[in-house]
Amino acid sequence: MAETEFITTSIQDRIATVTINRPDKLNALNAATIAALHDAFRALAADDDVGAAILTGAGAKAFVAGADIAELATMDPLSGIRVSRRGQDAFRFIERMRKPVLAAVNGFALGGGLELALACHLRIAAATARFGLPEVKLGIIPGYGGTVRLPRLVGRGRALELILSGEMIDAAEAYRIGLVNHVVEPDALLEATRSLAGRMLANGPVALALALESVDHAQSAPTEQALILESDLFGLLAGTDDMREGMQAFLEKRVPRFRGR
Ligand code: COA
Repeated sequence: MAETEFITTSIQDRIATVTINRPDKLNALNAATIAALHDAFRALAADDDVGAAILTGAGAKAFVAGADIAELATMDPLSGIRVSRRGQDAFRFIERMRKPVLAAVNGFALGGGLELALACHLRIAAATARFGLPEVKLGIIPGYGGTVRLPRLVGRGRALELILSGEMIDAAEAYRIGLVNHVVEPDALLEATRSLAGRMLANGPVALALALESVDHAQSAPTEQALILESDLFGLLAGTDDMREGMQAFLEKRVPRFRGR
């Protein structure tokens, strides 16, 4: 168990659970929390004993209720750019992780909190969770990737409705528009998310890493380039012990034992 003032990390069965731990402020992201989050994921990326990560918020009320408005209130244009870039860099690091990162959205995911969930590879929501980008109500816009990732995930029209109205939607609506993968009862959230992560970890770790790499590259690359990378990565996997083990196990009707090489 690793613990900093605002972030707790525990690891069990190769699954890390990272908890944003500032419940009295609904886990609002101040600069120290963003830096600690970035450090926590750097450590998980480098840890061979970790195969997947779950990101959640402490307490029953909030995943993350946004960037810390008390800190943002004093910014000027140059510090505003710095604040935005630091958040973007931390979230992009999470998005570029080569191990699955699942957001377990246990309550409010607002502003930077929704943007953080968007940077994760998948989102599982408690039925009580609520989602929104209320920045325009404060006279700003989403600055941690929300204007970039939300339209890609749910389409431009639905994204613009959330961004321009600043209104919240509930978990059922988030599921309907494809913002979250699953909705479960609050008590079942962590177990359901762990179970999904565990099912992913039964697969070859190199295959998981390269699937994430290919999908990430395809987000921004032209189709021809993305297809070339996909076939190169496909070819690379043909050189792994894991591929031979996976196919052999299928032919022998047994469970594969992947070793990540
Ligand atoms: N930044 C800083 N502090 C925040 C915060 C944020 N984004 N969101 C909540 N908090 C703090 C509140 O100021 C309050 O602190 P206090 O007890 O010291 O006064 C505490 O968290 C509890 O929040 P409160 O507003 O009392 O809870 P609520 O149940 O009445 O309302 C929300 C919940 C989520 C609707 C409300 O907190 C809210 O609108 N938060 C801001 C959301 C937002 O605009 N996020 C985008 C930021 S860019």
